[in-house]
Amino acid sequence: MSKTSIPNLVSRLSLLIILSFFFTTVRADNAPDPGLVSQGEVLFKENCKTCHAVHTQEVGPALKDVTKRRDVKWLSAWIRNSSAVIASGDKYANDIYNKFGKSPMTSFSSFKDDEIKAVLAYIDAESVKAPVVEGPKTPTPGPGGETSEVKEDTTSTIILILVVVVLILVLTTLIVFLSVIKRFLKDKEATLTEADKDLVNQKFDLVVVVKSKMFITIVSLLFVAIAVRACWLGALSIGIEQNYEPVQPIAFSHKQHAGDMKINCNYCHTGAYKSKQSNIPSLNICMNCHTHVTEGSRFGKDEIAKVVKAYNDGTPIKWVRVHNLPDLAYFNHSQHTTVAGIECQKCHGPIEEMEVVRQHSPLTMGWCINCHRETAVNSKDNAYYDRLLKVHADSKKKGEMKAEDIGAIDCSKCHY
Ligand code: HEC
Ligand code: HEC
Ligand code: HEC
Ligand code: HEC
Ligand code: HEC
Ligand code: HEC
Repeated sequence: MSKTSIPNLVSRLSLLIILSFFFTTVRADNAPDPGLVSQGEVLFKENCKTCHAVHTQEVGPALKDVTKRRDVKWLSAWIRNSSAVIASGDKYANDIYNKFGKSPMTSFSSFKDDEIKAVLAYIDAESVKAPVVEGPKTPTPGPGGETSEVKEDTTSTIILILVVVVLILVLTTLIVFLSVIKRFLKDKEATLTEADKDLVNQKFDLVVVVKSKMFITIVSLLFVAIAVRACWLGALSIGIEQNYEPVQPIAFSHKQHAGDMKINCNYCHTGAYKSKQSNIPSLNICMNCHTHVTEGSRFGKDEIAKVVKAYNDGTPIKWVRVHNLPDLAYFNHSQHTTVAGIECQKCHGPIEEMEVVRQHSPLTMGWCINCHRETAVNSKDNAYYDRLLKVHADSKKKGEMKAEDIGAIDCSKCHY
């Protein structure tokens, strides 16, 4: 290889590297910044969610693609003070204001520029996702008659796609490098030694690659890693049914009944406050309302008809049990709800937001015991605890009297 060509080659290569870096950074800049989006998500949920969703009309319009309808300047002014934009005579503003029955939107005058940017980034990111249907696993007809079943957690998929894109970029750059180098050396073929010539003229041979030691080692390592990971995850989750969310025979929705209609948990689960078991309501309770209400907004007459038919036939509905402790453990609802004053949501999560009930907590022994260590006994208006409180105050232990201090982590309390 001639001496003069080396600097030449290096400079060309570095130019290519710089170009490819530039290319990849430009790509990355166009992708939404995940930090900004998640900041926007928090702001949106705190401030806008009560009235807006991205894909559906709520109190206010669906915000899908709103940044395509309006520019950032207009949106900033609107979010900070929509009445001012309306008063300025802006036609678009007056049109939606009238369309939404002149219901005023809250002003967010304290929002900073980057907070507005974050909220808009979140709305943009949600806009490109398919609408989320939080419902039973059977596809639900959407507003346009289309069906969709997309789960909320698409972030990992997005990251995966990004990784693949980057890998493809790297690969193409490498291939470009190779051909450039080859072409460059072809010109200089006369000056090359025999061995170098062989190298330059070598054809890419998949069989050689696949048979190479390096390739076989990498593939086997990958296999071992995947297998170990699967076994590990499997071992960790034996007997734990956290997030178990079975499909129920009737599309009964807690979001609709306990959330939107605000029916008290106690109206249906009367046992939760007065006994060990929290019962599942009988059809009598459903029929208090469903003798009159025969049509729902999501499934029309279909799902409620099942309730009425089961009631008339006298066949109980076979609800699939979600929470289930093994028989060796003793758990009592009223001890926790009535005596300790713990809210259902502390253990069951935001049930009033669930279309389908999901097991929120792990229900493991460690989970029970941790809470007994952390939670103070509810001694208010409970004469039973007066003496215990005094004993606790006199003892060396500092701080509030925890459930632990009244023996709630003794094996015999939870195991017969
Ligand atoms: C109290 C309910 C309420 C809250 C909270 C609310 N909005 Fe609105 N929003 C509305 C209503 C209603 C409209 C329709 C116009 C009108 O009636 O003023 C609207 C309209 C809009 C529009 C124009 C939509 C279009 O299609 O052009 C945007 C953008 C918007 N809101 C963004 C937000 C953002 C961002 C937040 C949170 C920071 C928010 N809104 C919080 C009620 C609300
Ligand atoms: C209108 C009646 C009704 C109301 C109100 C109601 N539920 Fe339910 N709940 C049911 C029915 C029916 C089931 C069984 C079907 C299912 O799992 O969706 C159930 C199931 C459950 C389960 C799962 C039981 C299992 O199988 O492990 C929990 C936990 C629960 N409800 C908690 C609550 C809480 C907390 C509230 C209040 C925020 C509430 N429910 C309000 C009717 C009701
Ligand atoms: C306090 C009154 C009340 C009680 C009790 C009640 N519901 Fe409902 N339910 C309603 C109303 C009102 C609707 C219609 C809501 C809507 O679509 O906006 C409804 C809707 C439904 C729907 C249809 C959902 C849809 O959108 O198509 C089902 C299924 C249903 N209820 C099942 C039950 C079952 C099962 C029980 C007993 C565990 C029960 N309901 C108890 C008032 C009640
Ligand atoms: C301290 C945690 C805790 C609290 C608070 C709590 N639950 Fe539970 N809940 C559980 C556990 C644990 C189970 C599983 C019990 C079993 O399998 O024996 C359960 C089971 C249930 C079930 C299924 C039926 C049953 O009894 O097995 C329903 C329904 C239920 N809970 C409703 C409620 C309601 C309604 C409230 C609030 C009034 C509530 N829970 C408060 C922990 C709790
Ligand atoms: C959210 C916190 C919390 C969780 C989770 C919880 N507990 Fe408790 N538990 C308490 C508190 C607080 C008390 C004390 C109630 C009282 O004042 O008697 C208690 C009391 C008890 C008692 C009575 C202890 C005694 O000395 O009388 C038993 C038994 C018990 N819990 C079992 C369980 C089991 C089993 C689980 C798990 C399936 C569990 N608890 C999960 C908070 C919790
Ligand atoms: C606050 C309640 C509580 C206390 C106190 C408690 N346990 Fe448990 N234990 C549970 C629950 C709930 C389960 C079932 C859930 C699980 O398998 O993790 C369980 C499961 C177990 C199991 C079976 C594990 C398995 O994998 O099937 C053993 C053994 C056990 N406990 C022993 C003990 C011993 C020994 C003590 C006293 C040092 C104790 N437990 C104290 C609640 C408790």
